[in-house]
Amino acid sequence: MPRAVKFSRYGGPEVLEVVEVPRPKPGPGEVLVRVVVAGVNPGEAGIRQGVFADMWPAVFPEGQGNDFAGWVAELGDGVSEFAVGDEVIGYLPRAAQADYVVSPADLLTPKPADISWEAAAPLSAVGVTAWAAVDAVAPAAGDTVVVSAAAGGVGSLAVQLARLRGATVIGTAGPHNADYLRSLGVVPVEHGPGLADRLKAAAPDGIDAFVDTFGQGNVDTALALGVAPQRINTLADGRAVARYGVRHKAQEDAFSPRLVAELAALVSKGQLTVTVSEVYPLEQVQEAYRQVQRRHTRGKIVLSLVPPDERPAPAAEPSTP
Ligand SMILES: NC(=O)c1ccc[n+]([C@@H]2O[C@H](COP(=O)([O-])OP(=O)(O)OC[C@H]3O[C@@H](n4cnc5c(N)ncnc54)[C@H](OP(=O)(O)O)[C@@H]3O)[C@@H](O)[C@H]2O)c1
Repeated sequence: MPRAVKFSRYGGPEVLEVVEVPRPKPGPGEVLVRVVVAGVNPGEAGIRQGVFADMWPAVFPEGQGNDFAGWVAELGDGVSEFAVGDEVIGYLPRAAQADYVVSPADLLTPKPADISWEAAAPLSAVGVTAWAAVDAVAPAAGDTVVVSAAAGGVGSLAVQLARLRGATVIGTAGPHNADYLRSLGVVPVEHGPGLADRLKAAAPDGIDAFVDTFGQGNVDTALALGVAPQRINTLADGRAVARYGVRHKAQEDAFSPRLVAELAALVSKGQLTVTVSEVYPLEQVQEAYRQVQRRHTRGKIVLSLVPPDERPAPAAEPSTP
């Protein structure tokens, strides 16, 4: 029987179960996908804990996961743009962590054969989010851009996308990530008390734009350093959005299969690196979330649903941290 991650009450990772479910059938215009890799994201933990229950209540037993990569297992009526066996990247809220998912065909992106399943899946979530957040602050050649939590899932892609637009990029991180950020062409600055002074020292001519992926006072720091509100984007500070009118572009504002294809092409060309620090088998989904909720992930943590030796085509190794 196919497996899926479900939870039947709000709570910590311990409420997550891997249960057997029927194999779904694709309807007209839909595609059944055999999921190979699904992402693990900190925002999903908030939903599972019930933090957003007023806005987005769970329907128990609720599924989990958003971003995935897999191959086409079955076509619904009228689908001509894909064939069985095609490798695809997709995004299905609260559903992706399952052996089989049904997606509208027009929400899927062909996965280039030369990028790994592990690198492909996160592109539809953190990849699109990073693109939206960077695009919102419009970096240009000559600009200095700060990205907070620069070694994280969104941050590690945002720094690279900002550099591709010609900006000088400063990234905040713990000291253990300084060399990693340097390897991405980023100037590392330690987060924590005294951040504003360290940023001033790293950017004596000023900071033009700020991509905040962590909250906790980063927007206040950016404003104090003279960054204009319309050139600050935060993914994690709703209070600052309401109070200062800073931007808050995220995945839902930018997602399209075309954008996912553009990001995948950058990975293919070696211009964008998806760092995958850990791959957990589906059965260890609880441990994967315990790890991601510590909030010190370098790049991405993903779940593997098909062991490498059972995948149809040889995939490239995931990039290492
Ligand atoms: N709405 C959307 O479309 C969407 C999509 C994806 C993500 N998000 C949101 O975007 C945010 C980032 O997600 P993510 O997946 O990138 O998170 P993540 O990977 O869990 O972030 C981990 C990073 O946070 C850094 N960090 C830990 N403590 C910090 C501190 N005090 N100050 C600055 N950085 C610190 C860590 O760096 P060190 O280990 O170096 O300390 C680590 O590299 C989350 O709030 C998430 O919910 C929104």
